[in-house]
Amino acid sequence: MTGTMRLKIVLILCCISAISGNDIYNQAWYSKLDSSKQAHYDNLTDDITSFLNGGDDSHRHDEYRGFGPVLLRTSFHAAGTFDHKFNKGGINGGTLQHNKVLEKSGNACIDIATDVIKVFARRNKISFADTTAIAGALALKSMDFPRMDLISVKGGRFDLDASHAGGPSDLPNAQVNPLQKFTDEYGFSTAEFVALIGGAHSLGAAHAVCTCYAGSFSDRPLSWAGPDFFRDLVDEEWTWYTLTTFDDDTITFTIGSEPDWPTGRGKREIQ
Ligand SMILES: *[C@@H]1O[C@H](CO)[C@@H](O)[C@H](O)[C@H]1NC(C)=O
Repeated sequence: MTGTMRLKIVLILCCISAISGNDIYNQAWYSKLDSSKQAHYDNLTDDITSFLNGGDDSHRHDEYRGFGPVLLRTSFHAAGTFDHKFNKGGINGGTLQHNKVLEKSGNACIDIATDVIKVFARRNKISFADTTAIAGALALKSMDFPRMDLISVKGGRFDLDASHAGGPSDLPNAQVNPLQKFTDEYGFSTAEFVALIGGAHSLGAAHAVCTCYAGSFSDRPLSWAGPDFFRDLVDEEWTWYTLTTFDDDTITFTIGSEPDWPTGRGKREIQ
């Protein structure tokens, strides 16, 4: 890619971001629920929505705030337990709540979000699996995702116990060839994979305590309006840093040389 190459992503920004719950649901599915079940799902969306709007600071590690990105990441990682060859895993089953899955390196710090999802699921008597899917949709909505019309969540997922956790699939992480993983195991086309990389990395930030990377990939990590991941890759000046974490959780950055890729994971500061 050269500096002259520009990816221009035209977004149709819609103005329906005044958030209120249940329009994320598939209406055919939702209308068949009895009114008490509808109330459970409505209350769940209210809980998650006010949480997303609340700016809870209790889990902050650094200057970044906001829960939309981590809830979206969580629903993606739950979906990422799917292996299409074995037709096994995925959000349904809710196995992301089990330690066997949470402790995989690609899921670092995701327990912050799964803890919150567990509370909302229990309180509203909805499965962890459904709550994870709904939280992902509401996270997109809170970040002004322009095509909410494409999102139509059905409920009815159930949770499986820990003995079902950790199937043949593993999660995306920098040590494996991600393209091969996504095309072979998840059945993505290369175009879909590229769109996913750009979209996902435009939202949220990496936190040194979680991933050994630090910084956001976008100037507006809480809004879909700034999907500038590809542009920044080309236009920004990049510097390699070595990140050191000490026992007392102090983190330092020192300018370093370019590590071997991809095993040099964790050595880069994103400015
Ligand atoms: C939903 O929330 C309202 C308001 O907090 C509460 O009165 C009602 O009992 C809840 N419904 C269910 C089904 O939990």
